[in-house]
Parts: sequence; structure tokens; C-alpha cells
Amino acid sequence: MNNKVFAIKKITLSSTAVSIIWEDNKKSLFHFLWLRDNCPTSFHPDTRMRIFNILSVSKDIYPMKIKKEYNRLIIHWSENNHISKYDLKWLRNHCYTNKNSQSTVSKKIFWKNNLKSKLSLISFNYEKIIKYEKNFIQWLELLTSYGVTIIKQSPTTTNSGFKILKKIGTYRETFFGTPFEVANIPKPNNQAYTSDALSNHTDLPYYEYVPGYQFLHCLKNNAKGGNSTIVDGFSVANYLKKNEKEIFNILTNTEVKFKDNDYTQKSLRIFYSPIIKLNLQKNFDEIRINLGAMATLDIKSNKMKRFYEAYRFFYSLLHNKKYLVEFRLKKGDLLCFDNRRILHGRASFNPHSGNRHLQGYYIEREEIYSKLNYLKKILI
Ligand SMILES: [Fe+2]
Repeated sequence: MNNKVFAIKKITLSSTAVSIIWEDNKKSLFHFLWLRDNCPTSFHPDTRMRIFNILSVSKDIYPMKIKKEYNRLIIHWSENNHISKYDLKWLRNHCYTNKNSQSTVSKKIFWKNNLKSKLSLISFNYEKIIKYEKNFIQWLELLTSYGVTIIKQSPTTTNSGFKILKKIGTYRETFFGTPFEVANIPKPNNQAYTSDALSNHTDLPYYEYVPGYQFLHCLKNNAKGGNSTIVDGFSVANYLKKNEKEIFNILTNTEVKFKDNDYTQKSLRIFYSPIIKLNLQKNFDEIRINLGAMATLDIKSNKMKRFYEAYRFFYSLLHNKKYLVEFRLKKGDLLCFDNRRILHGRASFNPHSGNRHLQGYYIEREEIYSKLNYLKKILI
């Protein structure tokens, strides 16, 4: 950016805000309380936490004197004899008149089965991610935009998946343990631990806060069958939003009962949530869908019939070839995906024909976003 961007041409005061016209003719409004709240002295130098209490001034505080001095804006406040000195570059970078909510979270790219021909685009080499920051950032960005990536040529020793999780942040523990072992075992407490096919699903919908990302690390896969499938739940939900409004409304407004009561648990986990959950901006927040974890539904009787129709419609689209990407996980592949957006599934495999062993990990979305914020030096 050139210097004009950070230089002031004109300052004027209204009854509630300081108005600045910059040398590049852009205009910023900074409200009095916002300015006082964000005085550089409001933050502890070490903890970087806000120490200024908004109740220590009145709501009518105003600048008694305001002037530009070199590369700073100086304000003498009407209360507590306080003087604030703002760096102009900081002010301009935090202007909220034209833009707000800066975030590194890459724009989501919804995909259909066309991703199958572009798998190389979302495939990364393990060593490069570990060694080079540039590759690490690129991987995290694609992971947040496509919601899925495959890391290739990773080590296949037991528990070696921890290294990449720890490079990001803290992993999410669940009652399945970390890592959880996806293999055919006697007396399983989850369908994943059989050789059966698994229809497309998101994991652990009975948690109030469902784990954000799932990493499935393929240590062995030489059994017959067991191909993997992934589907972009947001992409399918977006189709409903545009073309099947009534179905979309049912799935976003009906609280559905999910549960886990497997035989190893001394807990009975129950949680109600819509299958498609939106945030306050009406953007997609999460998809919860899992045949095995659907409880006996107790939706109001005048809504049950319509719900089942909507649920069936969505579920069939989530298994439609138009949206499905099928591939085979190879030894050393680490499939990473947003568990609250991307559904995953697998075909049945023959446990007598060879070994299939994956280790699974969870890590929250916020760990991934926070690492990206840090690496991309996002302003706060
Ligand atoms: Fe799963």
C-alpha cells in the first residue's frame, strides 16, 4: 500500500464520531466509544488482553481536542484527563466503515462429483506440509475452502498422525479415544469397526458440539473392497435451498433426535439438532446426518410424515452419483475433512482377503482457522 492510504487529508467531528478523509480520498468514521475502547493503553502489553473497562467512562464521552501529529492521531478525551495516541496505519487497517469481519477463512467452494477428476488439486505431499510453511498454509486454505484434502506419502507407523495434528494445535478427544482404530474387530461398539458398508454420514451427531475436522489415516488397505466415498453436504444442501425450499425449511427447522447408547458406555448421549444448521447470516454451519445415530424420532405427529419425506429426499441426494466422489485410500494417505460439512462412507470389504486399518483423529475447526490467522498475520 502506498503512503497516501495511511495519511490524513481532513479530520471532522460529528456528535458521535470522528470522520477522517484519507489522502487517497477514502472516508472512515470512528465512533467515540469505539476509539476510547481501542486506545492503545486499553491492552495489557504482555497478555495483549483488553484491560479497559467500558463502564469506566460514560456513554457521552467525546474528544475535547483532536489533532494529527506525524503518523499519529492524538485525542484528548472529555473524561479522566485521558489522552489516546493512535497509529494512523493501525487506524486505517481497522477502519470498519467499508469492510468488517476480516477473516482468513477461505471462501467455501462447493463441489459435486466433478472433484473426482480434480483429486490432484486437493492432494498434498506429507513431507512438504511438514517442512515448508508455504505448503502448510496452502494445504490449510484448501482444507477450509473444499472441506477436504488428501495428504499423500505420510508415515504409516502407529499413531504417527499426531504429528500433523500437533503442528496445527490441540486435538479433540472423544470417548472413542485418540486415535480411534477403524478396523474389523470382535464385539464392535460402532458400525465403523465392522467390515460392513457405511452409508454416507457425519460422525458423532449426538454431541452438542460435534468435532469439526476428522483425519483418517490409512495404515493398511489391502483387503478386497472398502472403497471410500465423500460428499459435500453443503453443496447438496445448497441445491435444496435453491430448488426445494419446503424440504430445505423442514430440514433446517426440525430438531431431530440423535443418540449413542452403545454397550461399552455408561452414558446415554442424546442431542436434538436440525439436520441442516444455519448461522445467523443464514450461511451453512453444519450438517448432521448419520443413519446409525438417529434415535427413535419424536417429532410432532402432524409433522412426522413431511419430515420423513424431506429426510428421504436429502438422504437420497447425498448418495446420488451427481454428488458422490469415490476413491480408494492407499497406505500412507491421510484423508482430512470437515466433519460438519463433508459426509464420508465406505463400501464393505472382505476381512479375510487382507487388512484394512485406519486411525482416526478429530480436531476442531477453530484450531485450523486460528493457525491460518496466525500464519497469515491477520490483524486484530
Ligand atoms: Fe465415520
